[in-house]
Amino acid sequence: MSDASAQNVPAQIALDTRLVHAGRVGGTGPVNTPVHRASTILFDTVADLDAAKAARFAKGTLFYGRFGTPDTFAFEEAVSALEAGAATVAVPSGLAACVLPLVAFLRPGDHVLVADTIYEPTRTSLNAFIARNGVAVEYVDPRADLAPLLRPETRMIYLESPGSLTFELQDLPAVAALAKGRGIVTVCDNTWATGYFCQPLALGIDIVVQAATKYIVGHSDAMLGSVTANAEYWPAVRNTTYALGQYAGPDDAWLGARGLRTLAVRMERHQASALAVAEWLAEQADVASVLHPALPGCPGHAIWRRDFSGASGLFAFTLADGDDAARAALIDGLDLFGIGYSWGGYESLAIPADPGPLRTATPWMATGPLVRLQIGLEDPADLIADLAAGLDRFRAARG
Ligand SMILES: Cc1ncc(COP(=O)(O)O)c(C=O)c1O
Repeated sequence: MSDASAQNVPAQIALDTRLVHAGRVGGTGPVNTPVHRASTILFDTVADLDAAKAARFAKGTLFYGRFGTPDTFAFEEAVSALEAGAATVAVPSGLAACVLPLVAFLRPGDHVLVADTIYEPTRTSLNAFIARNGVAVEYVDPRADLAPLLRPETRMIYLESPGSLTFELQDLPAVAALAKGRGIVTVCDNTWATGYFCQPLALGIDIVVQAATKYIVGHSDAMLGSVTANAEYWPAVRNTTYALGQYAGPDDAWLGARGLRTLAVRMERHQASALAVAEWLAEQADVASVLHPALPGCPGHAIWRRDFSGASGLFAFTLADGDDAARAALIDGLDLFGIGYSWGGYESLAIPADPGPLRTATPWMATGPLVRLQIGLEDPADLIADLAAGLDRFRAARG
């Protein structure tokens, strides 16, 4: 568990430079912090053991495996640099990161406003566990003015911008300004942009969660989450992490730290290729809409221009008409896109998704089915040719 003060790179250095250096020990020896698999940490004397115990929450203290090892420290420090946060904790999955602030801050009698477009399993956790403990969970249109919805007992606003599957942007600075001074904690799932394209903490949000499983790990081979907080809320995040026994394994943290070193170049390539594919899709007669924050038609595009420095490789499109079988014909025959959940790796993916049943505050009005794409690091011309053949199959199956 790391503190911002320990970052070894001055704050004024550019983000891509910081991603290369933050959390590394430097000097001679291996470039990357080696993996340390440890539960027990041995000490010479009882006095040394006591000293480590007293300092167990401080960055870099080796005390007991669950309090972190050099690989988790390195990962956490680099994520703090990425997200411009006071400190970060690594947790075993993105969902664990999403749930941690809910457990840390919500008490019986509290009210939480939640963007209707959040990642669906976070919604399930809210409904199954948080609401059960006497917390009023209210889902809201992600673009609504939240001021009239605040109650004296509102304790948290939980956002994800852009939203899952439909990619609506939220006005993070406006929400942060509304919450400040009212004792309301603001939380944002920043997995889509990563801190590379948007830093919600710099926009006034209190806590950022990420599924590092996606772009940070970047190779679809580890589950990992991160929670980054500002100085005000960091102690509660840290204490809750320990109280729940949360700990990310050293191998996964190591993969996360390695992924961060190449994040900048990968994100630039995801952005360029996804834009090329999205712009091509927008011109196709069978495509009703392309849900991509960098396209002018996307809900909240002006907010994206103001608050984000780029767009990642995940977006969706809706078909003009057709049914699930015609959509399956499009997806099933794709040669270069895998069919499977998650995203953010080097490889392209396509899945069918149906936002309608997942929403309670914002009816889903699309006329045709939706396909979500993760655009990987392949040549976009090859991906476009694959999708063009997919649209041919869609037309044939639709009849
Ligand atoms: C926006 C978002 N947040 C969180 C998660 C959860 O991440 P993980 O699968 O690592 O638990 C996902 C996973 O798809 C996601 O899309």
